[in-house]
Amino acid sequence: MPERIAEGVQLPDAAVAPLFEPLRLNDTFTLPNRIVMAPMTRCKAIEGLVPTPDAVAYYARRAACGLITTEGTIIRPDGQGYPDTPGLFTDAQVAGWRPITAAVHDAGGRIFAQIWHVGRVSHPVYLGGEAPIAPSAVALSGPIKRLPGHEYGTPRALETDEIQPLADDFGQAAANARAAGFDGVEIHGANGYIIDQFLHHDSNRRTDDYGGTPENMARFPLAVVDAVTAAIGADRTGLRLSPGAYHYMPGNDADADVFRHLLARLDDRGIAYVHTGIFDDSQTFDYLGGTATAFLRRHYRGTVIACGSYTPTSGAAALSAGRCDLVAYGRPLIANPDFVAQVRRGAPLREYDEGMLATLE
Ligand SMILES: Cc1cc2nc3c(=O)[nH]c(=O)nc-3n(C[C@H](O)[C@H](O)[C@H](O)COP(=O)(O)O)c2cc1C
Repeated sequence: MPERIAEGVQLPDAAVAPLFEPLRLNDTFTLPNRIVMAPMTRCKAIEGLVPTPDAVAYYARRAACGLITTEGTIIRPDGQGYPDTPGLFTDAQVAGWRPITAAVHDAGGRIFAQIWHVGRVSHPVYLGGEAPIAPSAVALSGPIKRLPGHEYGTPRALETDEIQPLADDFGQAAANARAAGFDGVEIHGANGYIIDQFLHHDSNRRTDDYGGTPENMARFPLAVVDAVTAAIGADRTGLRLSPGAYHYMPGNDADADVFRHLLARLDDRGIAYVHTGIFDDSQTFDYLGGTATAFLRRHYRGTVIACGSYTPTSGAAALSAGRCDLVAYGRPLIANPDFVAQVRRGAPLREYDEGMLATLE
């Protein structure tokens, strides 16, 4: 169905028109277009991991997106792995998010907080000298990102009785997100962080109920989904996944069975969407039989957000071909705050470069 365009608003070119069709996500949300702002860590939080006031204008300027997902936002202190990432576990943080969500709503947008725990992708400097936690004591190697002179170390394997409380803390962060005015949350289950660490054999060597079989390896991720949906409702809950291990994580042929099991269980839960976590969605994985998004599409019946190096035309083509229902853009939205309007009128886009991360434009 073509979108009804108000008088004076230029019709998008046919090559990008699929991006401008609305999508009824569920009974709670109808998105005016198929463009999602991908979650992007900006490391600009102020004292107490409160979001910076500069984020008010930053997110509001991007409110024309069908949906905004925020930068990764930590659910509790030991979830931190980068400097100055905001949280959703104190009253001051909740208060700091309120003007941001209000400004996005005033500008006509919808905003989900991406809730995050990095697990082993951390360092004792962030954790009061304690080792990071993870499903198993399997170290990452190499220099730690954005912390010169430090190397990743061996994490501490969670005790069995620490795992459900961690899932419950995701639920509490989701409740806090609603209190802060967010429309919902995206659970960060992707990119090698704690939920992803449970889902891959390389990082999950557990021998209790949380490891060893697809059912056990999906148990914690599903406990998080259940804690979050119990707190705020399935209609307000999204989940980002990286079935293709590509970031802080080697893949393994057996991982595909874990993700197939997880996706089948998610079908019953009626969450808002599943979102691919990857930098380049043309990357294929032998053990998935193709791209990460194609794998999600094949094994999950609900709404799929594709992401990873899409252009306006390649994203529109993916929608037309039925490969996804929404397309998330990251770097193009940093470089072009007005991305949605520019794409609609066929205006040239500014190229992203890392120097743009210095400020929140
Ligand atoms: C600066 C930067 C920060 C990012 N931070 C996050 C994050 O907090 N959470 C997440 O899931 N992905 C994060 N990503 C990945 C993006 O969400 C997205 O998957 C990636 O940039 C590929 O999309 P693009 O080609 O449209 O930029 C980040 C990417 C960039 C460039």
